[in-house]
Amino acid sequence: MTTIGCVITAAGRGERLGGDLPKALQTVAGETLLTHATRLMASAPDVTAVVVAAPADHLAAARRAVADISGPQVTVVAGGATRTESVRSAVGHLPAGVTGILVHDAARPFVPPAVVTAVIAALAAGADGAVPGLPVVDTIKQVDAADVVVATPERALLRAVQTPQGFQAPLLREALADTGAEATDDSQLVERLGAAVRVVPGHPDGMKVTTPGDLVRAEEILQARRAHAD
Ligand code: C5P
Repeated sequence: MTTIGCVITAAGRGERLGGDLPKALQTVAGETLLTHATRLMASAPDVTAVVVAAPADHLAAARRAVADISGPQVTVVAGGATRTESVRSAVGHLPAGVTGILVHDAARPFVPPAVVTAVIAALAAGADGAVPGLPVVDTIKQVDAADVVVATPERALLRAVQTPQGFQAPLLREALADTGAEATDDSQLVERLGAAVRVVPGHPDGMKVTTPGDLVRAEEILQARRAHAD
């Protein structure tokens, strides 16, 4: 049986977004990014527990943001100085018995539910890990410290990955047990163990809210969905 624990990373300051509040506590259509993201993940199939890593100095506001979400129990804990530290802290608060773990950025509040379901389905089918990804449209260059191009990876083989990223729980726990391990996404930590992480189709709506313009786009995504539901 698949039982999924979900971690929501919400402890970043979001400096590129600006504003007085941490990014996850900024609002779209009157609700925080954290509220939208947590509601999405709490309603996903087989999710039995959700742990939010929130800024240590905004725990009360983060708890208020998720207080009305129904379904699995939602716990809010203090995140860390880096994204990986936040994930490590939150994973430590998930029930020991979950078979799979999803890690999702609060900064990606409008990932379509079908993307979340595809990640969970890949885990249920036995994948070590599954991450949503999109083909890249730009040619990507690898540069050295002086900004000189050292490689041009073949574009057709590149994917821009999003969250939620899903893993068999023992693998992610093992990857995080190395307390020095740091990465910009969780897949990289699990890949280092030699595990096979599959890419499932992502969606443009899974974009990460990073700049003020992204907040406008997030608002448009939500309005379009609500109009479509009417
Ligand atoms: O900074 P960036 O946009 O890459 O952050 C991605 C996600 O990781 C965001 O949801 C952010 O709140 C979270 N994060 C975190 N703890 C940190 C830094 C970022 O939970 N120390």
